[in-house]
Amino acid sequence: MTVTDEAVPDAAAPPPGPAAHAVDLVKTYGKGDAVVRALDGIDIAFERGRFTAVMGPSGSGKSTLMHCMAGLDTPTSGHVFVGAEEVGTLDDAGLTRLRRDRIGFVFQSFNLVPTLTARENIHRPADLAGRWTRPGSTT
Ligand SMILES: Nc1ncnc2c1ncn2[C@@H]1O[C@H](COP(=O)(O)OP(=O)(O)O)[C@@H](O)[C@H]1O
Ligand SMILES: [Mg+2]
Repeated sequence: MTVTDEAVPDAAAPPPGPAAHAVDLVKTYGKGDAVVRALDGIDIAFERGRFTAVMGPSGSGKSTLMHCMAGLDTPTSGHVFVGAEEVGTLDDAGLTRLRRDRIGFVFQSFNLVPTLTARENIHRPADLAGRWTRPGSTT
């Protein structure tokens, strides 16, 4: 019998790297004279286990950034990663899994279930997929 003593990655430890990041992210709307460059080459990383606030005046691109990061909208160019997975490489099934299992969203006013709390709204896709139960839920 041989015994080796080497570092074994802790299975419970989160994978390295940011929770999500974007590289040279560009999003334009419209064409020609009417083109709007909502995101102009954004590089950003959202670290694990932290709250990150994205702040700016109305029209500065906050919603566009969130939609592109979450795979709800397609960037004009650049790269979005959730963990190590590049969102732009996912097919429809992959995007559905990403949105259902790995991203929670509280929208402004729209698309919220008014009888649920903010936490319950965020968990909703995973609840429906049977992944998690709400805190305090007996079902
Ligand atoms: N669907 C769209 N079509 C055309 N222009 C858009 C669209 N969505 C956003 N924009 C424009 O992109 C810019 C950024 O908008 P948005 O991301 O909504 O900013 P914020 O969330 O910071 O208010 C604004 O100039 C806005 O008018
Ligand atoms: Mg907005």
